[in-house]
Amino acid sequence: MATILITGASDGLGRALAHEVAAANRLILHGRDPGRLAEVAERTGGEPVQADLSSLAEVRRLAATIADRHQRLDVLVNNAAVGFGPPGASATAVASTSALSAGPRSGPGRGVRQLSKDGYELRLAVNYLAPYLLTRLLLPLLRRAAPARVVNVASIGQAPVDLDDLMMTRGYEGITAYRRAKLALIADTFTLAAELDPAEVTVNCLHPASLMPTTMVRDAGVGTIDTLEEGLRATHRLVVDPALDGVTGRFFDRERDSRALAQAYDPAFRDRLRTMTESLVGE
Ligand SMILES: NC(=O)c1ccc[n+]([C@@H]2O[C@H](COP(=O)([O-])OP(=O)(O)OC[C@H]3O[C@@H](n4cnc5c(N)ncnc54)[C@H](OP(=O)(O)O)[C@@H]3O)[C@@H](O)[C@H]2O)c1
Repeated sequence: MATILITGASDGLGRALAHEVAAANRLILHGRDPGRLAEVAERTGGEPVQADLSSLAEVRRLAATIADRHQRLDVLVNNAAVGFGPPGASATAVASTSALSAGPRSGPGRGVRQLSKDGYELRLAVNYLAPYLLTRLLLPLLRRAAPARVVNVASIGQAPVDLDDLMMTRGYEGITAYRRAKLALIADTFTLAAELDPAEVTVNCLHPASLMPTTMVRDAGVGTIDTLEEGLRATHRLVVDPALDGVTGRFFDRERDSRALAQAYDPAFRDRLRTMTESLVGE
């Protein structure tokens, strides 16, 4: 029986994945909202762990709680993310963050620039810095479960990261912030995969499916394209498929081995991103 941690298991794809793998595995379910987290934990038999990933201190506390309770972790699914706006329900849900400057409010993906509890651009913080740090902190548990897997839920929606304006103080758009954070997560997938022995820990990322009917898509006010089941199938495959044993450092578009934006493969970019990230997360 494998131990699987799913972040953002309180809603959407994370919750669907929790239900899918619950019967055959020991589940650790991360969520931000205690009520909805308790609900999914009760339904799946998983162990709930609450944390707001817009705080690096909470990411550290989350990792410490898991390390206190568990010797090993077979699979880490970094799924939690903030969508691209406009600020509707999701902006209310992150009311602990502060709006820095208001961008254009109409139309999908515009939104308001928000800051994490650490004062970082919110989407970069939750969608990239949090999984970066969580994964590093849980590496000892993953190594103990070798062969273990890290699955980063990314997106086909990527935009080049401007390392001279990582916090996107200029020309802010929620959708671009979201895409930049996903690009950073994909680039780090490749960096970490290259550092780890694939016999110990593999690290892959994927675009689960396009515009599934989840909260972040509804909040964006855009139409849907794919079903949640399509995204679930692609993500579930990366978690359990024995054919992917030893396969690492890949970006999958749904179930197809694919290519991310060129910047994610650029060693000079990745080195600089890594150095800046280490300093931001205080590692
Ligand atoms: N939907 C799509 O079409 C699509 C396409 C490509 C990629 N993706 C990716 O798929 C993943 C799952 O997204 P989804 O569509 O299932 O979205 P969703 O239903 O909006 O779920 C997002 C999850 O992330 C959690 N989250 C957000 N901010 C958080 C924070 N500050 N701290 C802790 N947890 C936080 C949410 O918690 P709350 O329940 O507390 O809000 C929720 O559990 C994301 O990585 C997303 O980028 C989705």
